[in-house]
Amino acid sequence: MTSILILNGPNLNLLGTRQPEVYGHVTLSDIEALCRAHGTSRGADVTFMQSNSEGILIDAIHDAKGVHDGIVLNAGAYTHTSIALMDAISSVELPVVELHLSNIHAREDFRHVSYIARVALGVICGFGAAGYPLAMDALLAHLAQQ
Ligand code: DQA
Repeated sequence: MTSILILNGPNLNLLGTRQPEVYGHVTLSDIEALCRAHGTSRGADVTFMQSNSEGILIDAIHDAKGVHDGIVLNAGAYTHTSIALMDAISSVELPVVELHLSNIHAREDFRHVSYIARVALGVICGFGAAGYPLAMDALLAHLAQQ
C-alpha cells in the first residue's frame, strides 16, 4: 500500500483560532480527518504529524526514507526561510508536494519566496483545507507513474 507522510509545520496546530480571516475555521484535527478519509478512499496509508520545531520536521523527513513513498509538506513559515528543510528533502530524494492553505503569492512579498518549491514536485496553494486531498492526489498520480 502506498504510504504518504503529511507533515505540518509551525503554528498550524493553532488552525481554527489562528487568523480565521486568512486560514478559515477548520482545525488541524479536521484536516487530519479529511486526509485520513481521502487516504482510505484512494487505498493509501496516511501518517499525519505537526511540529513547531524545524529540527523535528527535518528528522521526520529523514525518517520518512524507506518508510513512506512521498510527503505532502505544509512547512508554514519555514517555507520562506529554511535552507535546512530544503536540504533535508534533497537528501532523502523522496517526492514532496508543497502545500499551503492560503495563496502565498497574493500575500506579503516575503511569502513569495519558497525554498521548498526548489526541490518539490509542485506546489498547491490557496484552496484552504481542500488543498490537502489535492496534494495527496498529485503525489499519488506521480507515484503511479514511477
Ligand atoms: C502557510 C503560509 C505561510 O506563509 C505561513 O507562514 C503559514 C501557513 C499556509 O498554509 O497558508 O504558517 O503555510
